[in-house]
Amino acid sequence: MAGKFDEIYRRSLDDPEGFWSEAAEALSWYKRWDRVFEGDGPTNSRWFPGAMCNTCYNALDRHVEDGHGERTALIYDSPVTDTVATLSYREFRDQAARFGGVLRGLGVGKGDRVILYMPMVPETAVAMLACARIGAIHSVVFGGFAANELATRIADSTPKVIVTATCGIEPGRIVEYMPLVTEALALSPHKVDHVVVLQRPENPVEPVPGRDHDWHEAMAAASPVDCVPVLATDPLYILYTSGTTGEPKGVVRDNGGHMVALKWSMKNVYNTDPGEAYWAASDVGWVVGHSYIVYAPLLHGCTTILYEGKPVGTPDAGVFWRVISQHKVSTLFTAPTAFRAIKREDPNGKLIGDYDMSAFRTLYLAGERTDPDTLHWARDKLGVPVIDHWWQTESGWPMAANCAGIELLPIKDGSPTRAVPGYDIEILGNDGAPVARGEMGAICVKLPLPPSCLPTLWNAQDRFLASYMNRYPGYYETADAGYMDQDGYLFVMSRTDDIINVAGHRLSTGAMEEVMADHPDVAECAVIGVADSLKGQLPLGFLVLNAGVNRDPGAITGEVVKMMRDRIGAVAAFRIAVIVERLPKTRSGKILRGTMASIADGKDYKAPATIDDPAILPEIASALRNAGYPRS
Ligand code: COA
Ligand code: AMP
Repeated sequence: MAGKFDEIYRRSLDDPEGFWSEAAEALSWYKRWDRVFEGDGPTNSRWFPGAMCNTCYNALDRHVEDGHGERTALIYDSPVTDTVATLSYREFRDQAARFGGVLRGLGVGKGDRVILYMPMVPETAVAMLACARIGAIHSVVFGGFAANELATRIADSTPKVIVTATCGIEPGRIVEYMPLVTEALALSPHKVDHVVVLQRPENPVEPVPGRDHDWHEAMAAASPVDCVPVLATDPLYILYTSGTTGEPKGVVRDNGGHMVALKWSMKNVYNTDPGEAYWAASDVGWVVGHSYIVYAPLLHGCTTILYEGKPVGTPDAGVFWRVISQHKVSTLFTAPTAFRAIKREDPNGKLIGDYDMSAFRTLYLAGERTDPDTLHWARDKLGVPVIDHWWQTESGWPMAANCAGIELLPIKDGSPTRAVPGYDIEILGNDGAPVARGEMGAICVKLPLPPSCLPTLWNAQDRFLASYMNRYPGYYETADAGYMDQDGYLFVMSRTDDIINVAGHRLSTGAMEEVMADHPDVAECAVIGVADSLKGQLPLGFLVLNAGVNRDPGAITGEVVKMMRDRIGAVAAFRIAVIVERLPKTRSGKILRGTMASIADGKDYKAPATIDDPAILPEIASALRNAGYPRS
């Protein structure tokens, strides 16, 4: 007999329009849609065309008007500044309305872009909602990226205004943002006249006259503005994510479909009710932060936790339990790497016993595969279900999960469970046909994609089609590889492209290779991801030097490491480069990164039949041994 999950899943595929129009009833619309869905395959697919709505209205004003204005919307918990502060729904709405006034006063209107280069402070969420309120499109840039990455995003999204703060705070160090903003503006061909700056007491900075506007002064002088109706299909934000080259992809998110999918997910996937405290321990610079620190919990009327700190060291491995108990968190969502960090510091989970965890119900993990050790540790120590779930920046919400709000299915180690309602997931072989259950292949989603998934890439429709739609006609290609078992459980095993996953952060080895190739002594290079017990993967570089270069190899690798930090950012965690005589390649010249990764990880490997010169592999193994790989 089909269970409740099977029934709902089936309906979502058999009658997507009925399914999602019902879900859309949970939100307020200025004008209803002409059709629930319109589209013809990969191009121009749109949910709720013709409908008018406002995401900020649904996330804030609606709750105030429904009598929940005094409910806490956001708790800012910042062990790095020793602060706990709250915003009620009314206060949050008022601030978003006022900051909308600030932006409008600086000439920002509907459809204009605003870059937010911000740390984990409440003002970041206020600025996001303010953009949504006036129909502007925000693009949040993660604070761990260097000036060059910020410049690329300024050049591509051509914002009218940048909103920033004087610093981010990492344990033991202040990350000064203003020099990075100034450098990025110098690097970008697109210039910005106005920068709104949140002065943080940890790092006061003199404003640049004529360019910088003080956040607090601008707020005091501005008048609040009302929500502007936008089309459901108008963009809400652009979020850049790593592609296979140094040019990041600008994933576009619309307003209507996004609201509907996120609101639906809060109960059905996360089993969380309005009024409960929901905590996504991530960063607003990533998609998890957009969807589950800001939009989804607010659309659902929850209290969201905005946490500025780390899982360990701020001050210790008990801080997650402190936050859960202090704010009565029912649902925590984080990356497995955070749990590996906690487990390493407190292997017996002793610190958990110091806190009242009675409100806590479920742990959700995503961003990378949850290894069975971490899953068992978390489940045993916390005594709650631990749910691995799988998704991407491109989808904006889970594609595979154990939908605890519908029916908690049995958990299988190493699997994010089953396709979420709305996603028709199939595993395809090289010939484009579905493979048998249990066989590996490309994980693809049959079109149409459900609401919230990207309609296009910003200014790059051809790249959108080339990246996601062309390889398997009729399907969206996720660029993950894996298999589905007989029960329909998905197992996500690896990427099919050059993306690596470092501490739950998605990074492009292609982008790193572009940086290394710029070093004057480097003739050729490659970057691979090697297994790491804390961060899942770490990047490792290989350099072939120009003929005749006889400088100190340590100096060259040191320069490359510094270039990576300066050009991509500390978050790349690029620390090791190995100099080799030559790189292993196929006869057609493709570098055998996968084989090098297997050697570095100490896995069995076989020289592919297409290898140009198999004698190179022992040379690579020897260079890796000298650098300490494989790690014991
Ligand atoms: N701004 C500036 N720098 C940042 C930053 C930010 N927002 N976030 C990270 N960095 C820096 C760190 O300070 C570190 O710099 P360092 O090389 O000078 O030490 C570097 O980027 C690497 O950071 P990170 O990967 O976070 O490693 P870490 O050693 O500082 O911490 C963990 C390790 C596991 C505690 C940490 O990675 C973590 O909390 N992971 C959770 C992952 C997560 O939330 N993923 C989001 C998807 S759900
Ligand atoms: P991002 O777009 O930064 O969210 O990264 C998305 C990618 O992270 C996916 O395409 C996967 O490669 C990986 N990923 C995310 N969640 C999981 C998971 N639960 N299991 C395996 N891989 C995951």
